[in-house]
Amino acid sequence: MTIELGGLLRGQAAVEATVEPRVPTRRRYLMCPPRHFTVAYSINPWMDPSQPVSTSLALEQWTALKSAYERLGHTVEVIDPVAGLPDMVFAANSGTVIDGRVLGSRFRADERAAEADHFRRWFLDHGYRDVVMPTSINEAEGDFAWTGDFILAGHGFRTDPAAHAEAQEVLGVPVVSLRLIDPRFYHLDTALFVLTEAGVGSPAQIAYYPEAFSPGSRRVLHRLFPDAIIATAADAVCLGLNGVSDGLHVVLPVEATALADQLAHHGYQPVPVDISEIRKAGGGPKCCTMELRD
Ligand code: ARG
Repeated sequence: MTIELGGLLRGQAAVEATVEPRVPTRRRYLMCPPRHFTVAYSINPWMDPSQPVSTSLALEQWTALKSAYERLGHTVEVIDPVAGLPDMVFAANSGTVIDGRVLGSRFRADERAAEADHFRRWFLDHGYRDVVMPTSINEAEGDFAWTGDFILAGHGFRTDPAAHAEAQEVLGVPVVSLRLIDPRFYHLDTALFVLTEAGVGSPAQIAYYPEAFSPGSRRVLHRLFPDAIIATAADAVCLGLNGVSDGLHVVLPVEATALADQLAHHGYQPVPVDISEIRKAGGGPKCCTMELRD
């Protein structure tokens, strides 16, 4: 009897051990309130200027997203929005910060070009000494995902492949290039995100939607991340891959239910948010959130 009980306890421990303990780390984010949000032009397939947009609803959803981060213990810095730059809410596109080094942005669309300099000035006003502005088209964390060891970098629609080499040179970290092939997933952060950064002796974990990538890039992802969480088409089309993880809590669009279930199964805690109004411009939680890795 005693022996059986011992065996049972050992068996239970073995089952629990298959889900690794998830450890959150405190983050510092930069966000921009969508006080001038609208869809006045179309630079991605999500944007339809003929559809009505509510700036106040977008602001409400953004405020709830910011509060969610704060409830999780993260710090949120805020940059003032500028009239006439409706996409400035997508702060992720304006800089990549690793070890306190900043690589700014250079937008592909003229409509967004002026955002880059507002963020450059924010960095300089907030104590960043090492701020470099790119020479190639570079939409920053829209196309760059930090895994803890290297940057996964997207190209095909926005960021120029030459910006990948430039990021490696400026930030001093390896860059792995991936080609995006579906215009709905025009930025890397619409098709892939990092759930857990690599640590000492532990690899990074990511989630992604394979169909957004070229065949060769799919093979690269499979080779680097054999244990990745693979999202469904339904997860992807609500921008479910535009998530933000602190290693345990994963903030993601409320519609991405299959992805949330998979995450929970893998020991993460999904934190669903409603970003339906902001999605009319083609963005989700991650697009609104630049990480300041100081
Ligand atoms: N309307 C913006 C654009 O097309 C949306 C950017 C979304 N940001 C992102 N990180 N995916 O540029």
